[in-house]
Amino acid sequence: MLKLPGLIDPHVHLREPGQTHKEDWDSGTSAALAGGVTVLLAMPNTRPPIFDAATLNLALAAAKAKARCDYAQFLGAGPGNAEWGRHKALPLRAAGLKMYLDSTFGELRLDDMTLWQQHFQTWPRDLPIVAHSESRSMAAVILMAAIYDRPVHIAHISLKEEVLLIKAAKEKGIKVTCEVCPHHLFLTKDDIPPSPLHPSPNGRGDGGEGRLSVRPRLATKEDVDVLWANLDVIDCFATDHAPHTLAEKDGENPPPGFPGVETMLPLLFTAVSDGRLTIDQIIEKSVINPRKIFSLPKQPETWVEVDENARYELHAADLHSRCGWTPFEGWQVRGRVRRVTLRGREAFKDGRALVKPGYGRNVRE
Ligand code: NCD
Ligand code: ZN
Repeated sequence: MLKLPGLIDPHVHLREPGQTHKEDWDSGTSAALAGGVTVLLAMPNTRPPIFDAATLNLALAAAKAKARCDYAQFLGAGPGNAEWGRHKALPLRAAGLKMYLDSTFGELRLDDMTLWQQHFQTWPRDLPIVAHSESRSMAAVILMAAIYDRPVHIAHISLKEEVLLIKAAKEKGIKVTCEVCPHHLFLTKDDIPPSPLHPSPNGRGDGGEGRLSVRPRLATKEDVDVLWANLDVIDCFATDHAPHTLAEKDGENPPPGFPGVETMLPLLFTAVSDGRLTIDQIIEKSVINPRKIFSLPKQPETWVEVDENARYELHAADLHSRCGWTPFEGWQVRGRVRRVTLRGREAFKDGRALVKPGYGRNVRE
């Protein structure tokens, strides 16, 4: 049995408040523990979105009552809330500021670059900003980080041009960090099956992706190969756990997003067994770097026991997420989480969360 520190997942969508038929703080944090994740950072594109003190309180009340692992909650950058500087108390209570600069699920999107500037000027420099920015908007946000001389963390990179741009920016000394999701490392757009309900005329065009719709979109084999070849440029693994029910995913307008918080560890351990990754790299990108980038406290008496030789198939029926499916259904994987100890308590063992809802702590408190 291999003993790892508890993993940190800096990018998780828990759907509460507002869409608890997809997930809530209980099911999502149970899923996290099953994946060896002991701290998660929750995204703000809920209903309502989390963008001020009242909505932050709403999310944190649900978390306090229901979370089984430790957590923090992001605030979302909106058109009318760039007044952060005057109320540093609020930013200090959040995981960080999330800026949505490209289209995705939810209402939070900033098109106007003068709003980006306002947020870069007013969000406290020592607290994290995470940008959902793809391709050219990523280039723009990296320029803004350089102009305002503050760090920015780029969410879920997926393209060759993105990892190469970040590499070049880091070489120039710009304070940029980034994360990659398992689905962008293990799937390509060729894995999207043709679907009569959702014909996909142009590959990366809008819609037409059915169940495998996700933002950023799945990319080409060349993109995936270049991500693997540049793992040293990538600071963190993040799941972008974005649960939507099977009925929604297979319906008329499938919302983008994959569940992932339970399947990341076995996928990464499979890569270790294939000789493409090392356990040290998993610890670096899932513990050490996210802890530093997001200023997270060490969790005392916290570890994950992994049977690294276990060989089994992934099935949605065995997972804890409420969404009821996984893009990795039937995949042969290595590495099973046997037990999670969180702050001295046995929190998960052999498929079951053992700590009660509410055991999880807000790491910003
Ligand atoms: C996310 C969601 O469903 O909330 N969807 C996705 O495809 N990744 C939103 C996001 O992270 O962009
Ligand atoms: Zn996301």
